[in-house]
Amino acid sequence: MRTVVVGASSGIGRCIGIGLGRRGARVALLARRLERLERAAREAGSDALAIPCDVTDPGSCRTAIDAAASELGGIDALVYAPAIGPLARLVDLDADTWRRAFDTNVIGAALVTAAAVPHLSAAEGRAVYLSSVSASLTPPWPGLGAYVVSKAALDKLVDAWRAEHADIGFTRLVVGDTGGGTGDSQTEFAAGWDPKLSAELGPIWFQRGLLSGSLMDVADLVEIVHAVLRTGPSASLPSVVITPRARKAR
Ligand SMILES: NC(=O)c1ccc[n+]([C@@H]2O[C@H](COP(=O)([O-])OP(=O)(O)OC[C@H]3O[C@@H](n4cnc5c(N)ncnc54)[C@H](OP(=O)(O)O)[C@@H]3O)[C@@H](O)[C@H]2O)c1
Repeated sequence: MRTVVVGASSGIGRCIGIGLGRRGARVALLARRLERLERAAREAGSDALAIPCDVTDPGSCRTAIDAAASELGGIDALVYAPAIGPLARLVDLDADTWRRAFDTNVIGAALVTAAAVPHLSAAEGRAVYLSSVSASLTPPWPGLGAYVVSKAALDKLVDAWRAEHADIGFTRLVVGDTGGGTGDSQTEFAAGWDPKLSAELGPIWFQRGLLSGSLMDVADLVEIVHAVLRTGPSASLPSVVITPRARKAR
């Protein structure tokens, strides 16, 4: 399976890229930090590729996907993981922050997909987009407005692609809380958050039942992505949901 994983330099995307590579996929790992990608590629397998890509730059999206398709000899599967989640109350969100969130979380997904569609179509392939329970299932989380609004737009984008390209399997993968893996594979999602605001909002998220306190093992998430990508072309998987399960104390 010739697979492109975008957002593979940290967190869940890195776990998916390495996990798919170790399960026999030929993977091209894309993100901005090339050194990180090269380390991930070494873990993913001897034929894994590291290709720089900034999804907020249209030229970079096209060049990176073209390079991946050329090196892999086509593309059977695409996984889109990049997202930013700026922490700010809506009254404090400036236009640049809104734009950055939409550029990364939505428009980047559209541009990468547009570049990959001819290859995915030729292969009757699949594309998976990481969405979030906070956009698809729960009420919005206070302080994460730009994130949940842009992820909701991503959900619609996946449907819009399916409406125009029914020959490709487009899946929205709705993900609950996970810390990712360890080391470089840890999630960096909250890295830039203001600790003071975070400490104010955390209890509200708990009170409203948005944050359960349980974290899902990222290995289970990788299994699901692998299963979705291996599903044959007769089946459509518009939406898949994976959330943490409360476990008995051990
Ligand atoms: N962690 C969770 O519990 C959770 C829950 C629900 C959904 N999700 C979703 O899972 C996905 C991954 O989240 P994560 O927690 O693993 O986050 P993360 O550790 O922050 O990873 C984000 C990835 O996106 C890449 N990225 C960011 N901006 C980019 C850009 N302009 N161009 C190219 N790549 C870019 C980053 O690489 P570079 O900085 O090197 O470019 C990095 O590889 C996101 O879509 C998130 O919404 C996560």
